[in-house]
Amino acid sequence: MKVIKCKSGNIMIVLKEVEDVSDKVIKANDVDASFEKHVPQFEMMDKNVKVFVNHVMEEDHYIEWLLVDYGNEQIIKHFAPGDVPSMIVEYRSGMKAYSYCNKHSLWVSEDL
Ligand SMILES: [Fe+2]
Repeated sequence: MKVIKCKSGNIMIVLKEVEDVSDKVIKANDVDASFEKHVPQFEMMDKNVKVFVNHVMEEDHYIEWLLVDYGNEQIIKHFAPGDVPSMIVEYRSGMKAYSYCNKHSLWVSEDL
């Protein structure tokens, strides 16, 4: 799975790559912004895990979505300003979680 940004500004999730999209890939954790406020955090809850970001959720600056990647399955949750950017999902070893800030781009926590 890859997250890419097209020339149009569209952000797309590539589930199957049939042509090289390496020039369009958004690099995670690559923007000069607070790592702690953007990278997904985790809180174990028995067999589940709460995935969240400690980030403002203002009209012009907020987390647009969180995505959990299990490798063979992805779960995405979208947010609007004022929402709480968190989701509770099943814990699986090796899972990754991505967050996307409308101002500070893509962030990832890997291999939980
Ligand atoms: Fe941000």
